[in-house]
This record gives sequence, structure tokens and C-alpha cells, in this order.
Amino acid sequence: MEIKTNRLILREFEVNDFLAVHEYASNLDNVKYMVFGPNDEKATESFINECIKRQDESPRLHYDFAITLKSTGQLIGACGIYLEDDSAQASLGWILNKKYWKQGYMPEAANTLLSFGFEKLKLHRIYASCNAENYGSYRVMEKCGMRREAHFIKNRRGRKGIDAEWLSEYIYAILDSEWKTNSQVSTTM
Ligand SMILES: CC(C)(COP(=O)(O)OP(=O)(O)OC[C@H]1O[C@@H](n2cnc3c(N)ncnc32)[C@H](O)[C@@H]1OP(=O)(O)O)[C@@H](O)C(=O)NCCC(=O)NCCS
Repeated sequence: MEIKTNRLILREFEVNDFLAVHEYASNLDNVKYMVFGPNDEKATESFINECIKRQDESPRLHYDFAITLKSTGQLIGACGIYLEDDSAQASLGWILNKKYWKQGYMPEAANTLLSFGFEKLKLHRIYASCNAENYGSYRVMEKCGMRREAHFIKNRRGRKGIDAEWLSEYIYAILDSEWKTNSQVSTTM
């Protein structure tokens, strides 16, 4: 499946996405606030294989999208929406190659995930979490109309040798009723 926005095409991952994914996933600056990484080649390969495997899930609970530029086809990052078993709630995740930060690409992709979640999957609530120091990520949530619901203090164990021992976390969420009243960005699916 494929979702188009003004500047982006969100599409399914393919085996030959390895180099573009590994470029950001193996870079410590790029994964500073993530729970994974920096990846070695094996970890990136497993990530792509897992995404491809999930494309055949039935019912489908995990949607991982490669974020590509409409203009060139270049893969610039990844995002996903992950349904809980009851299929009424889902979480979001995202990462963009650092070359493409601060150009509004992720709010464009995230808005589309919300639209997909509420309008196609008929979800009730969508949420996302991030390291409380990750300004870029929680700004994406705010730009999409998500509300800060929780600030957990030192609840998340950091990666050994990379992070502090304990990290704090924000949770943001939006309900379908709020989406309907806030909905701003038009998309073509
Ligand atoms: C977080 C991220 C997805 C933001 O995407 P983006 O397309 O750059 O978002 P925007 O261009 O809309 O920027 C959002 C805001 O954050 C700021 N920002 C973006 N990336 C930033 C960064 N890495 N560091 C500091 N500020 C950042 C922007 O200047 C903007 O600020 P403003 O709202 O005050 O104007 C991107 O920085 C990224 O991929 N980071 C690494 C991976 C990551 O942390 N993923 C999230 C894990 S929860």
C-alpha cells in the first residue's frame, strides 16, 4: 500500500531499502533519542525483514512505512502505526534521516498516519511517546494536534554506554472526536 501527501510518498519497505535505512539507523546523532541503535548491519537487515514480514499479517496490526520524497523517490526516513489487539487504539513511531530534519516532513507524514488511523482504520485513540528531551519529536505531536497526557519521570531505562541510566518520557494522544474537529492536512490515499 502507498499513501501520498503534498511532498511525500509513504510506501511499504523493500529489501533494497537497506542502504538508505542503514545511513540513518547506524548514525548515533540520528538515533540519540531512540530506544534502539545505533544499528549494525544485522540490526538494520532484521528491521527491514520484520517490516516485510508484517506486510502479510492478517488482520494487519503493524504498518511500517518508508518515507520517500515524491520528487526524487529518495528514502528519507520511516514511520509507523501499530494497533493494539483490540484494534481501537494505536501508537505511532518515526525517524527521519538527519539531512532532512527541520523541513516539516515528519508532521506531514504523521498527520497522514493520523488520517489513515482515524479515517481508514476507524480507530478511537492514537498515542505516541518520546524521550522528554526530544523537542523535535514532541513538537511533531503538537503540530498534529496531539495533547500531552503524561510526563513520566525516569521511567525508561537508557541504553548502556549511550544514555543516562534512567530517562523521562512524554505521552501524547488524540481521540477520533478531536481529530474530526482539528483535521487540517488533506491527503490522497
Ligand atoms: C524528531 C523528528 C522526527 C522531527 O521531524 P522534522 O520533520 O524535523 O520536524 P519539524 O521540521 O516539524 O520540526 C519540529 C520542530 O522541532 C525542531 N527540530 C526538528 N528536529 C530537531 C532536532 N533534531 N533537534 C532539535 N530540534 C529539532 C524544529 O526546528 C521545529 O521547531 P519549532 O516547532 O520550534 O519550529 C526528527 O528530528 C528526527 O527524525 N529525529 C531523530 C529520530 C527521533 O528522535 N525520532 C523520534 C523518536 S520518539
